[in-house]
Amino acid sequence: MENEVGKPVVHDESALVRSKVELETHEIDWFLDAVWVRYGYDFRQYARASLIRRVHYRLQSEGLKRVSELIPLVLYDEDFFQRFLKDMSVTVTTMFRNAVVFKGIRDQIVSFLRTYPRINIWHAGCATGEEVYSMAILLKEEGLLERTRIYATDYNNQSLEFAKHGIYPLKEIRGYTENYLCAGGKGSFSDYYQARYEHAIMNSDLKDRITFAHHNLMKDGVFAEMHLVLCRNVLIYFDQNLQNRVLKVLSNSLVHRGFLVLGDKETLDFSAIANEFDEQVDRQRIYRKRPVLNSIT
Ligand SMILES: C[S@@+](CC[C@H](N)C(=O)[O-])C[C@H]1O[C@@H](n2cnc3c(N)ncnc32)[C@H](O)[C@@H]1O
Repeated sequence: MENEVGKPVVHDESALVRSKVELETHEIDWFLDAVWVRYGYDFRQYARASLIRRVHYRLQSEGLKRVSELIPLVLYDEDFFQRFLKDMSVTVTTMFRNAVVFKGIRDQIVSFLRTYPRINIWHAGCATGEEVYSMAILLKEEGLLERTRIYATDYNNQSLEFAKHGIYPLKEIRGYTENYLCAGGKGSFSDYYQARYEHAIMNSDLKDRITFAHHNLMKDGVFAEMHLVLCRNVLIYFDQNLQNRVLKVLSNSLVHRGFLVLGDKETLDFSAIANEFDEQVDRQRIYRKRPVLNSIT
């Protein structure tokens, strides 16, 4: 093939691939802008690599080729948005996940909680609730459940509905029980649920202390006067900017000398609030707010 001045056209394959990637980057940006404008969810601040994987997954599932084809869908089809929201919300969790952390909470934080007549705890990004019921069990065994209110939030309403019911597959019980024991459980995990057919229904005295609510960490504010805040395995999906915003909200939710617990792949190091906290238990992502030093002039 020749161009208009009669010279052969040389195809630069790598430039072509580059421009395709660049074009798709713009298409993803426009798609995320559309999500933001239409629904007020700002996924532009999510970690890019996993976001791209999820957009591609949605593209394939819808049988489409180009990201730009998702734009009219997200603008005019609310069901499509719900499907995308589900893709973006990774709800993997389990009872007493990372049991050593629950052991750390029992050994290091419970004595602090005990000093309060009323205790407030916030689980941000609670998914289907297993982490929250684990906390309720721990507090019951420590004699603190009756004076505790646990707030459990997520932006995924489907997960919240599931969590409210507190009904889990019986086939998971063996794993839950192992975690419970590793976390320093003092009784038997079977004390905390009723078995019905293929399901374990968590006891109502645990549920009664938990308030499940919608809360979007991208834009919503603090839960005031919390003694303990857990936000585990959520920040990993956010970029640095959003992580800092969320960490500020979590920090501002805590009482003086309150505790913050993150996931094992998350850290306060290099964050905007790094100097507000000390790591309480080495490498367990259990942090305690430093005392505020009043400067005397
Ligand atoms: C992997 S689960 C973690 C569940 C639990 N914290 C644990 O560690 O087992 C992550 C949860 O974060 C929630 N999440 C993600 N982005 C969120 C946001 N912007 N606001 C509130 N929750 C969010 C997801 O819906 C999901 O339920």
